[in-house]
Amino acid sequence: MTHYFTEKNSVDAVNRRMGLSTDPRLAEVLSCLVTHLHAFAKDIQLTQAEWEYGIEFLTKVGQICSDERQEFILLSDTLGMSMLVDAINNRRPPGATENTVLGPFHVADAPVRQMGDDISLDGKGEPCFFEGSVVDMQGNPISSAKIDVWSDNADGFYDVQQPGIQPKWNNRGIFITGEDGRYSFVGIKPVPYPIPDDGPVGKMLGHLGRHPYRPAHMHYIITAPGYETVVTHTFVGDDMYLTSDAVFGVKETLVAPFEKVADGETLWRSPFDFVLTPV
Ligand code: BEZ
Ligand code: FE
Repeated sequence: MTHYFTEKNSVDAVNRRMGLSTDPRLAEVLSCLVTHLHAFAKDIQLTQAEWEYGIEFLTKVGQICSDERQEFILLSDTLGMSMLVDAINNRRPPGATENTVLGPFHVADAPVRQMGDDISLDGKGEPCFFEGSVVDMQGNPISSAKIDVWSDNADGFYDVQQPGIQPKWNNRGIFITGEDGRYSFVGIKPVPYPIPDDGPVGKMLGHLGRHPYRPAHMHYIITAPGYETVVTHTFVGDDMYLTSDAVFGVKETLVAPFEKVADGETLWRSPFDFVLTPV
């Protein structure tokens, strides 16, 4: 066997350089990556120009990144990679609330609010009453569960995208369940919005004939002592983008009822129970 690199032995040529003291998991991940990368180039018979285009694209993805903008995550999201890694790492039994993508707009330490409080601070949108329970797989209420919720406003923007325009903590809050495991709050019926599409990932979507929209959704992180953390959404069932979410985040079990209220204080009501699995 030659010691030099050939088209045929390319994977071995690279992977046999791995040092003996390399961390075993790093060695496993990198050699698998090299195997698949080389197979990709061989399968597709990648041209020099295509390779240079790819390098240029990744360079632009890096260059637009900042403290406020993470284009690599957007790339991972739009290629289905974020949802795949999430699925591999959060397999749950039927009946348990499923995970979906976290997204870039979560802010830690939102204000803790009282049950029934209104989290919509800008007075825009169609008010909606959200309520339900946090329960275990047997349907028993879970107390001291923390419900961290956030959504866009009626214009399709999160508060952090519009500092100085939206009130701080608009459409965000943390609710802690009591003995009955129940939660309730007022927000708005969320609206669909485009993911940031003014960079290379947006351009990629355009070239692929894909739109940048996400169907209307509420974000949740549910934590409770002794239970797996659930990072999830609820989706509005009649949304036109439900089957073409730009980041593949929709799961059938996360589509929630949004019922029109005839003569209540809110226009809509959306009941949803969160079912947690033990750690
Ligand atoms: C979001 O739902 O907030 C989101 C998820 C992925 C990419 C961009 C936004
Ligand atoms: Fe979102």
